[in-house]
Amino acid sequence: MQMAMQCPYSCETATDTLQWIKAIVDFLKPFTFLINAHVVNFFTDKLWEAVDKDWIDCLRNEPIENLLRIPSGVVQDHWPDSLKEFVLTLKSLVLPRKQADLHKVLPGWKVTSLSSVLAQGMNLKKKHEVEVLSAVVNSVANSVSTDTIVDVGAGQGYLAQVLSFQFQHSVVAIDACSQHGKVMNARAERIKKHYAAQTRKFGYLWDFPFDFLYIRNLQYLEITNIMSEHLSHVVQL
Ligand SMILES: C[S@@+](CC[C@H](N)C(=O)[O-])C[C@H]1O[C@@H](n2cnc3c(N)ncnc32)[C@H](O)[C@@H]1O
Repeated sequence: MQMAMQCPYSCETATDTLQWIKAIVDFLKPFTFLINAHVVNFFTDKLWEAVDKDWIDCLRNEPIENLLRIPSGVVQDHWPDSLKEFVLTLKSLVLPRKQADLHKVLPGWKVTSLSSVLAQGMNLKKKHEVEVLSAVVNSVANSVSTDTIVDVGAGQGYLAQVLSFQFQHSVVAIDACSQHGKVMNARAERIKKHYAAQTRKFGYLWDFPFDFLYIRNLQYLEITNIMSEHLSHVVQL
């Protein structure tokens, strides 16, 4: 039995982190046909037939306890070398799960609780994620004095709208699904009404620089082109 090798990558700098991400992408590339397949296609297209025959022959006869240890990077001596290498490399590429101390990484970073109007439609998990992530994005955006934030894959706009309405950033939200765009716009209207009522009550002046673009089947290159058309500064987070 062998355990996983030590990870040769780090997140010390942005360059190190990118190198790590690139190594993961290169590792996954040969298996995209499997990763991106729907479960149904796994059966209808017999996708298992494209997996190395030696691996299948070996794993088919393994006791279940050994199979369950694969995600922990534990391999058996009698397995084919290529399978052992695959599992050990996979384990060595796993990103750290230990949470970074965001106060250290982003001095001045502060999470504020979302108002009930901005949190509408979110469950507790989503609310927590959006509270933390919006505070991180706000902190990075301020530190580089960005003009506009582009949220690619904005879904129903939970994050994008907090960045716009709560943190007052100019946001371009992009998604491939038009239905999400409709929900997002309806949500934005409700939130605007709320802030307009606050304006009448307290005399604040609110500005909502929020834009939604619906783009089907957007590829990375197209995203980059759209961003450069719309923005003078692009910050990649
Ligand atoms: C997990 S959801 C995003 C959640 C969202 N950021 C939020 O704050 O709630 C991922 C979204 O990415 C969109 N998406 C996936 N691939 C895309 C692509 N190539 N171009 C644009 N949007 C894409 C999907 O339509 C989906 O709405």
